Amino acid sequence: MSSGETFRLGVLGSGKGSNFVAIADAIAVGKIPAQVALVLSDAEKAGMLEHARTRTLPARFIPPGNFRTKLDEDAERAYVSALLEARVDWIVLAGFMRVLKGDFLRAFEGRIVNIHPSLLPSFPGLEAWKQALDHGVKVTGCTVHFVDAGVDSGPIIGQQTVPVLDDDTPETLHQRIQVAEHELYPRCVAALARGEVSVQGRRVVSRIG
Ligand code: GAR
Repeated sequence: MSSGETFRLGVLGSGKGSNFVAIADAIAVGKIPAQVALVLSDAEKAGMLEHARTRTLPARFIPPGNFRTKLDEDAERAYVSALLEARVDWIVLAGFMRVLKGDFLRAFEGRIVNIHPSLLPSFPGLEAWKQALDHGVKVTGCTVHFVDAGVDSGPIIGQQTVPVLDDDTPETLHQRIQVAEHELYPRCVAALARGEVSVQGRRVVSRIG
């Protein structure tokens, strides 16, 4: 972190931005000692950008290039330079639906976190709530983890469980998981901002409030 300054977050997302809102609200009431330095999206119409602008936070759409599941090289460079220019200390992925690769990971090594809507390592990848329902598990949840070169595979910072109910649909289950996400993610980001998270190999020791 740049000395003498508040912990600066770069938030990346592709969707409606409810996790971003949970984090921004927690910052606003002093629960996370940090500031949102930049919000970036690969989707021009992402609700997250709108939420950021409503809060007068810097927010930009940066086109992702031609691939569907990752950023192309030019886009990757544009994302990294925007985040470096904004002097971001940590990257918070909040529903960013592209896998980050090489130069991006190197630029922010060990300083990227993500939230995933299942109890990892179960159900990595897309629509994890639907995977859980289709598999028939009775308990699922959400996971906040460090990002490494794999898909949803980095060291786990925190998890919260959610029961799967007999009459759940993919939508009702995802809604209930999101309620848990909005509790868990701000608590994990607060622990990071307070310097209360340390990584020992795959094991993360943290004081999540
Ligand atoms: C969240 O449920 C998040 O866990 C999921 O996308 C949703 C974004 O919602 N992320 C992934 O599936 C990443 N693999 P939001 O835009 O309302 O925060």
